[in-house]
This record gives sequence, C-alpha cells and structure tokens, in this order.
Amino acid sequence: MTQEWWRDAVIYQVYPRSFADANGDGMGDLPGITEKMPYLGALGVDAIWLSPFMRSPMRDAGYDVADYCDVDPLFGTLADFDDLVAAATQHGIKLIVDLVPNHSSSEHEFFKAALAAGPGSPERDLYVFKDGLGPEGNEPPTDWLSHFEGIAWTRVTEADGTPGQWYLHLFDPSQPDWNWENPKVHEYFESVLRFWLDRGVGGFRVDVAHALFKDQTFPSWPHHPHRGNVDEAGNRAPQFDRDELHPLYRRWREILDEYEGDRMMVAEASVTPDRLWRYLRADEMHEGFNFEYMKAPFEAEAMKRAIDLGFENNAPVGAPNSWVLSNHDAIRHATKMGYPAGTTFGEGILPSDPQPDADLGLRRARAATLFMHGLPGAVYVYQGEELGLPEHTTLAGEFRQDPSFERSGGTRAGRDGCRVPLPWQASAPYYGFSSGGSWLPQPESFAAHAADVEAAAPDSTLNLYRSTFALRKQRGLGVGTHAWIDGLPAGVLGYVNNGVAVIVNTTGEAQALPAPFTDAEVLLASVAVEGGHLAADSAAWLAA
Ligand code: GLC
Repeated sequence: MTQEWWRDAVIYQVYPRSFADANGDGMGDLPGITEKMPYLGALGVDAIWLSPFMRSPMRDAGYDVADYCDVDPLFGTLADFDDLVAAATQHGIKLIVDLVPNHSSSEHEFFKAALAAGPGSPERDLYVFKDGLGPEGNEPPTDWLSHFEGIAWTRVTEADGTPGQWYLHLFDPSQPDWNWENPKVHEYFESVLRFWLDRGVGGFRVDVAHALFKDQTFPSWPHHPHRGNVDEAGNRAPQFDRDELHPLYRRWREILDEYEGDRMMVAEASVTPDRLWRYLRADEMHEGFNFEYMKAPFEAEAMKRAIDLGFENNAPVGAPNSWVLSNHDAIRHATKMGYPAGTTFGEGILPSDPQPDADLGLRRARAATLFMHGLPGAVYVYQGEELGLPEHTTLAGEFRQDPSFERSGGTRAGRDGCRVPLPWQASAPYYGFSSGGSWLPQPESFAAHAADVEAAAPDSTLNLYRSTFALRKQRGLGVGTHAWIDGLPAGVLGYVNNGVAVIVNTTGEAQALPAPFTDAEVLLASVAVEGGHLAADSAAWLAA
C-alpha cells in the first residue's frame, strides 16, 4: 500500500444481509462480518465497502434509508458497528460505508414531515414535490421514468383527503428524491458524513453519484434511465450528470480532508465514460467505478478497448482506475461468461431463461479476473466472487424481493440472483451462513464453492485470489505501469506491468506463448500452463 492507500487498494464489497449471520435469524448481520474478519485478512483485502446497513424498511434492500445515523436492528446496533471497525482495524482493513444521497426512504422522518406539512411548506421543499399537469393536476409533472419500471412520480393524498402534489422518485416510490436545491439538504448530509467519519470509517461509496441535481426546468425525457443518459441526438438527461454536482463533491472532499488517515470517496457514477474524469478531479472524488471492463464480453478486442478507455479517460486528472467485474446490481460474472457471444443481459436471470454453461463461465471468469487484477489501479471484489460463486439462475418468483421483479409483473428478473447468502461450509445447514435460515434460498451448486472446500483445494478460485493479491502487492502492480504486448495471436491479449507479463487467451483453443515468453517462469495461472501453451479461456502471469 502506498501513502494514498486507495490508489492500489483491494476493496471487498460486503452485502451485509448475505455475508454471515451471527444470530441465526436468516439475515446476515454486523457481528457476522466481525467474526469473519480473519477470513478477509487472509484474503488480503485493504478495505471493505459495506452496502447499506442503516435503518430502513428494506424496500430496496437498504438503499432506502430511514435514518442515516443508526444501524438497522436486522443488522445489529451502533455498538456492533464500532466493534466491526475495531476488528477491521486490527487486521489493517479500512471500512468504507455506502452513502445514499439521491433519495431517502419514504419512512425518513423528514419525508413524513413533508407529507404532513403540505404544499409550499419548508418541510416539503426538502424533497422534489410538484403540482401535476392538466386541469385537475392528474398528470405527472414530467414523463421521467423510474429505474424500477413505470413513471418516476407518485401523487400524494393531502391531509384533507384530496388528491395532491406529486413527488419525484428516480427509483421505487418508497425512495423519494431529495431536493438538492435546498441548502438544508446540504447541511444535513454534511452532518451525516461527519457522523461516520467521527466513528472511524475510511470513506464512502457514493450511491448514484451522477443523480442528485435535476434540471429545474423539468423538460421532457421519455427514455429509460438505463439507456446511457444521452438520447440519440446526444442531449444529456435532465436528471443526471449535472454541473452542480461538482461544487458539492468539492465541499465533501474538504470535509474528508479535515480528518486524518486519507479518507476516500468512490463514485457510482453511471455516466458515459468520457465524463467520469469530471468526478475524479484532484479536489473531488478519489475514484469512480470503471464499468466498461465489467460490460465487455470475454473477447480480447472488447477487453482491450475497455482498458484503453479507462486509462485514456482518467489520464487528464491522474485518478486511478477502479476495476470491477461483479457487484450487487449485476449478474455474477462467473455466470455471465457462461453464455454464448452476443448474448444480451438484464439485471438477472429467470428460471425460464436459457441457462448458462457453468464450467465455461467459471473458467472464463477466472481468466478475466486474473487479467484484470494485474492492472494498475484499485480493484473491487464482490463477496463470493473469490469462491467462483455463480448467480442463482433458477430462483423461484415467490422468493424474489427486488422491486423491479414485482413492478414489472415478473418479467424483469431483478437482482436477487447475485445476492444469495454465501456458502461457508459445504456440509453445514445453510452452508454455514446461518444456523437458522437464509433470507433467499441457496442453490445446490453452492456446496462445491463453499469457503471450506475452496480453502482446502490448492487450485481453487479462493486460493487463486489469495495468491493474486499477495503477488500484486509484492510487485507493486497496483501502482505500476501498463504497456501492451504487440504481436500476440488473434484473441490473445497481454501487457507488462513491473516485470510481470499478464496474458489472457480468450479463444477456445490452446495458444503457444510467443517469444520471449515461451519459457518464462509462470507466476500464477488460471489453468496450468503446459508445454509453453496457454490453455483455452485462461490467463497467466509470467516473469517478464
Ligand atoms: C445504486 C445501488 C442499487 C440501488 C440504487 C438505488 O445503483 O447500487 O442497488 O438500488 O442505487 O439506491
């Protein structure tokens, strides 16, 4: 780790409800994470990004926050949080918490007060309330759509029982958007930042960091928010990526910098890649997820383009790339890569959808991951990917809880398939996740990936991740340089970083390693290198 620890950090995402359950209620909790700290220490992570654990009615698995400064009883107490920070610190691990500033829960006391206080009140001005269109105000104020299906506005009933104003929610109706035009919202979030900084967090992952401010003329924007935030004519969406965001993030940076210990922020900013650098200027956020590599298929040219784009786009501001392949919003990459080239994906897979080739998916996932982990920059790991965990692709509708499943009438799978509780022990009830239950059922395929099985097998994905992180640190790859190797066969891609040649073979055939790597010492491999050949769908690190 360098002094700017985040530049080359390995950051492990814990999704608290599915990591480990200490009290046996079937729901992961903070004491469960504390118990597993030795596991994370042995894996070699520098920080944990903890998805929301604050008080919430859990309509969007905690991304609907009702109290930003308290722990939800499902997960424990503030004292449990302090114990977690202490345990992490003992293992040299920092804790990054999720900050959700675009919207609160409709159960937040400020939103309840806004509903009670009525139109034109200061309480209502903390959120985005508007009168409806049409003579009776029956039409929503704009045509904006919610991420989770349907229109992004909900009409309220006023205290006197009459149909009233509409409020904006870019996500579920239970997630009203804050009004960032109001200075009181700024003051409130500054106090939230300080609350967690005072408790010793290493920083924040900022949820939908490209939203928050909205064009106050509220123009028409009939497109689905997933389609890239620009329309065919290149016009930018009125609810995303606005210039007003940047003074806000500068202010937050000043607050972080008041604290010792190089506290950091990472943006979840789903903007076109050429605009991400704007969030990563030296006085704004430290990092922003690079989603291009994650979106690329397992194909050499596409992977190369994604990596080049990451370096080109961040170069003007000197920010490191934040490489990522899986998270709690996307199909696990060991499953995604088990589909034929050209397959398009939603956020999940239904039992009625074509099913993946699990072995091929895992083989490619190990290769794509090993290739990514040699790059300079920070790397993010989503819990369970180090076990080679697949998506749950046959989860029955009755168990699915993600709002888009219900709101789409079951036509959108939602994101539950990547959120299934982790398997720790192959032969324990609930695979050792809990003694009493599992909030989503675990598929049988998890047994072979349980942490105890993986730890005992020298060639397991878990041991590959452990060795990779150790070597990455030892060779300083995270703060190294990247130079493409020319002249490799079609479908083979490679680069050199600090004396390590990182090469991936994305073809379905073994490929001879070209000179000068034919007899090079093999440092790590996703499939053993034999006879100077890189196996089909595999990657290796070689001494360069
Ligand atoms: C982010 C989160 C996602 C959540 C949404 C609304 O994209 O990663 O899980 O549903 O924001 O907060």
